[in-house]
Amino acid sequence: MCHAVAMRIGILGGTGPAGSGLAARLASVGHDVVIGSRSKYRAMEAVDELVSSWPELAGRLAHGDNAAAADCELIVIATPWDSAAGTAQENEDALADKVVVSMANALVRVNKEFQPLVPPRGSVAAHVQAAVPRCRVVAAFHHLPATELGHIHEPIDSDVLICGDDPSAVLTVAEIVAGFPGCRPLDAGELSNATAIEAFTAVLLQLNVRYRTRVAPKLTGIARDPRVVEPSQ
Ligand SMILES: NC(=O)c1ccc[n+]([C@@H]2O[C@H](COP(=O)([O-])OP(=O)(O)OC[C@H]3O[C@@H](n4cnc5c(N)ncnc54)[C@H](OP(=O)(O)O)[C@@H]3O)[C@@H](O)[C@H]2O)c1
Repeated sequence: MCHAVAMRIGILGGTGPAGSGLAARLASVGHDVVIGSRSKYRAMEAVDELVSSWPELAGRLAHGDNAAAADCELIVIATPWDSAAGTAQENEDALADKVVVSMANALVRVNKEFQPLVPPRGSVAAHVQAAVPRCRVVAAFHHLPATELGHIHEPIDSDVLICGDDPSAVLTVAEIVAGFPGCRPLDAGELSNATAIEAFTAVLLQLNVRYRTRVAPKLTGIARDPRVVEPSQ
């Protein structure tokens, strides 16, 4: 499959289920991905595991520490929510002027209930933006389940809500999302809306528990976004 843009994408905290699943999905649609970690050996294990499951990804996945991932063209932060801003700040110089995607959800599970938390600045994404003011933070990928991201031969039937204060950064991420079979990117406005997008994840996880499934959001009534270049076959 051919894409509007093939990029070199680094994932901070890419060894967890979300970062690894996203790495596999990005690599499967033609991006080069560096899985970052606080330990490059853990990152190496994560790459080895993905390549043993999906040998066709071998040339597209690399490992490194978080600094190596931060050296990429576009960066995703896939750490737990309470370490996202700190991890971004540790790599502040490398992130300057780049598109930085925040996918973290501030949530807590109390018994069988998921509850949203309100992080500093109202959302994880806004906290990351405040920690690294020179980068262009985009909030995205919050609702895509890690398992489905990692099943690279299956489409993911989902809308992906994206928001940020820099329209060209939002468009860049929208084009990446449009490359994922089954996904439709939706421009959900400025970064202030990350508060609602992140918090809504608690609702989706609650539905997963209630209905013993893994849900993904789809909205009705919106035509295709003409600004987003769809991938050609
Ligand atoms: N799981 C999902 O389905 C899903 C879907 C969408 C969004 N998300 C969001 O994506 C993020 C990652 O989810 P996950 O389930 O993959 O999380 P996770 O496994 O708990 O953490 C991901 C990675 O973050 C690093 N990390 C852990 N504690 C850290 C700390 N104190 N400082 C810096 N790095 C730390 C670890 O990598 P190293 O030890 O190798 O550094 C870990 O492997 C979360 O914020 C979550 O809300 C998850």
